[in-house]
Amino acid sequence: MKRDDVSRCLKAASENGFLGHEFPAVIFHDFRNMHERLSLLRKALPDPFRHTVAIKANPVLGVLKSVVSAGFGLEAASLEEVALARAAGCPGKGIVYNSPAKTSQDLRMAVEWGVVINVDNLQEFERLAEIAEKQAPVEPVFLRVNPLVGKGSISTTSVASSDSKFGFPVTDVPLIQNLFRDHSWLKGLHVHTGSQGYKIVDLVGGYRRVLDLKLAIDGACGQGRVSHLNIGGGLPFNYRNEDGAVIADWAKMLRLELKELFGLECVYTELGRVVHASAGWAASRVEYVKQTGDHKTAVVHLGADCFLRPVYRPNDWSHRLDVFDADFVQKKSPESEPWSIAGPLCFGEDYLARRSPMTTIAENDVIVIHDVGAYTFSMWSRHCSRGMPVILGYEEAGGPLTVLKKKETLEDIVQFWS
Ligand SMILES: Cc1ncc(COP(=O)(O)O)c(C=O)c1O
Repeated sequence: MKRDDVSRCLKAASENGFLGHEFPAVIFHDFRNMHERLSLLRKALPDPFRHTVAIKANPVLGVLKSVVSAGFGLEAASLEEVALARAAGCPGKGIVYNSPAKTSQDLRMAVEWGVVINVDNLQEFERLAEIAEKQAPVEPVFLRVNPLVGKGSISTTSVASSDSKFGFPVTDVPLIQNLFRDHSWLKGLHVHTGSQGYKIVDLVGGYRRVLDLKLAIDGACGQGRVSHLNIGGGLPFNYRNEDGAVIADWAKMLRLELKELFGLECVYTELGRVVHASAGWAASRVEYVKQTGDHKTAVVHLGADCFLRPVYRPNDWSHRLDVFDADFVQKKSPESEPWSIAGPLCFGEDYLARRSPMTTIAENDVIVIHDVGAYTFSMWSRHCSRGMPVILGYEEAGGPLTVLKKKETLEDIVQFWS
């Protein structure tokens, strides 16, 4: 985000009553930025690729509707997310349903709604097979495969180690061959390695292992038996300075290293972070400035409630911060003082930054937090029961703002816990 654009949006929010004492924090969604990412994706990987966007990264209904109206599908990680996808107008065949804990009822509903199902384990497969005897799935069913490529650099979001709770190990070849031999509605293999902690080359290594498995299945069950693949999400986003190159680099490597992908009937993707991260940004007024010895702290209105991962795992996750003054002009004095930016929750480690070099901060300044469009407010924590701030959407910086989600009121919080 250019600093002038941030300034224009903050002014527009303030003029419309969305930033001030009653609204001390605001989250913005830049639709144009998101659609640039989506177009890049479609251009880099056209047919046979079918792109879905991970709802868990950003479940705001207005955002999902915009994704769907641009012709993209949605990846759901729970039946609740399937319901969100349907509410956003996504047809069943555009919804990919992942979850390691689907109940029999969840599976029945997914089949009834014609959703694409990724089966996580053998017991789930058996339940689905029972349902399929009465009502065969109309959309292709996939088996989720663990590519066993190790934990990557962020163990908490990796799902590809040998002790992962997800999927069939890629080495379970005879079992998987039998499932394909016996069930014609089983069409594809799904792989998701993890989120953010893998380089493109590692992700591609995982896809290669799944393509080798496909060859082994085809060898046993007939050429082309595995007609569909789903290569999941997980592309790493550069939180220091995003330029969007990662999508193009990824597509280039797929073309170079995995030509077979392009001959398949259909290849699904399930990206979340690289589609949404840079489209979102947040702003909070500085409520208090404190000094203890030489330690300066600015207290703001967003902490671990909105930024669970950065607050609890600051070595794995962080966001760029900027300081704007009370008139929404970026402060330009040198970043020469160590500042801590503290959140509003009642525990000791609730910080967005610790002793980081920043410009001098004053009460009523605005701290801008960049690249918050994925896995921040979508993971909102109820610790201390603070309400979620308003989420505003815009097409053009400084232009009209749409309320995508209202600020939660005191009554909403009472209702939530009732
Ligand atoms: C199965 C699955 N697919 C897709 C994604 C999206 O990953 P990312 O947002 O890193 O692209 C996730 C994220 O956890 C996931 O679990």
